[in-house]
Amino acid sequence: MKSGSAIKTVVVAGAGTMGTSIAQIFAQSGFDVILYNRRQPSLDRAQARISGNLDTAIQEGTSTAEEKAAVLSRMSFTTDINAFAKADYIVEGIAENLEVKHEFFRTISQIISDDIVVTSNTSGLPITSIAEGVKNPERFAGMHFWNPPHLVPLVEIIKGEKTADEAAQIIYDVTNRIHKKPVIVKKDIKGQIGNRLQLAIVREALHILEIGAADVADIDAVMKYSLGFRYACLGPFESLDLGGLDVFDSISKYLFPDLSDAVTDGEMGRLVAQGNLGVKTGRGFYDYSGDRAQKVIEERDANFMKLYQCLYSEK
Ligand SMILES: NC(=O)c1ccc[n+]([C@@H]2O[C@H](COP(=O)([O-])OP(=O)(O)OC[C@H]3O[C@@H](n4cnc5c(N)ncnc54)[C@H](O)[C@@H]3O)[C@@H](O)[C@H]2O)c1
Repeated sequence: MKSGSAIKTVVVAGAGTMGTSIAQIFAQSGFDVILYNRRQPSLDRAQARISGNLDTAIQEGTSTAEEKAAVLSRMSFTTDINAFAKADYIVEGIAENLEVKHEFFRTISQIISDDIVVTSNTSGLPITSIAEGVKNPERFAGMHFWNPPHLVPLVEIIKGEKTADEAAQIIYDVTNRIHKKPVIVKKDIKGQIGNRLQLAIVREALHILEIGAADVADIDAVMKYSLGFRYACLGPFESLDLGGLDVFDSISKYLFPDLSDAVTDGEMGRLVAQGNLGVKTGRGFYDYSGDRAQKVIEERDANFMKLYQCLYSEK
């Protein structure tokens, strides 16, 4: 198997929200990157977004015009599926649909080298199921980035039933090379770790809204000004130890039975049925009409950059 240090060219499939930014990260860390998509307009948008992301980094003082030029010089954009023949390593970030992923992996399996590691950024489809479309499932695993990947530090590495330890180790090394925090998910569970935790919070937030105990903005405020603030520095188990296990043991005894166990998504499902999908349609739980969507994204990225600088920057 091609080891971490022998990997030079990375091919990223899918020039959407995730693939674009994943391609940027690899180029920022010195890899030659080819971003593949079936349609050219998506690649044009991706190129513009990467340029914009790098401009924001320059404005925030975390990058320079020279670094931007160097990153862009390491990137190419293509609709030619044969580009996968050049790959030393692959990250797939196409649609979250098992059949689409199977068809994609069957196609590239005929083109790619036999000794490379192939990964999927799936949000939660079982790796073992996706692997049914991959020629060498022992060299295949999940490499799950968080949105926006160029700013959020975590990568979950998910082993499928057939993933070899050596392949997981190579992904671990690559994750370190792109300056991300790798975590190995030992069992191929739906939603991995992060999305299980996230959706548990989402379910309870929807429940609190549904029973009229608080408004959307106040539920968001509770998260940002308490748990979110704390969770940037402490995990749940560290928080439990610091708070006192006896205290949390008492709370869990009366609160666990009262928490939502809903299997439907209430107000979120109603919004989706109305075509209100959030920032991308201009309306979700909040209003993003006019230029608000762009402003919200810019503010988010600037805040994430400040947080990153505070907690993780070596500069
Ligand atoms: N959006 C998120 O917050 C997030 C977070 C983590 C993981 N993911 C996962 O990352 C993957 C991509 O998600 P996204 O949000 O970037 O989606 P997206 O819809 O923004 O982008 C997907 C891109 O892939 C392209 N595509 C679709 N089928 C293709 C094919 N067969 N060949 C080549 N290109 C194809 C589309 O044209 C589109 O440009 C999904 O598996 C998703 O579950 C998403």
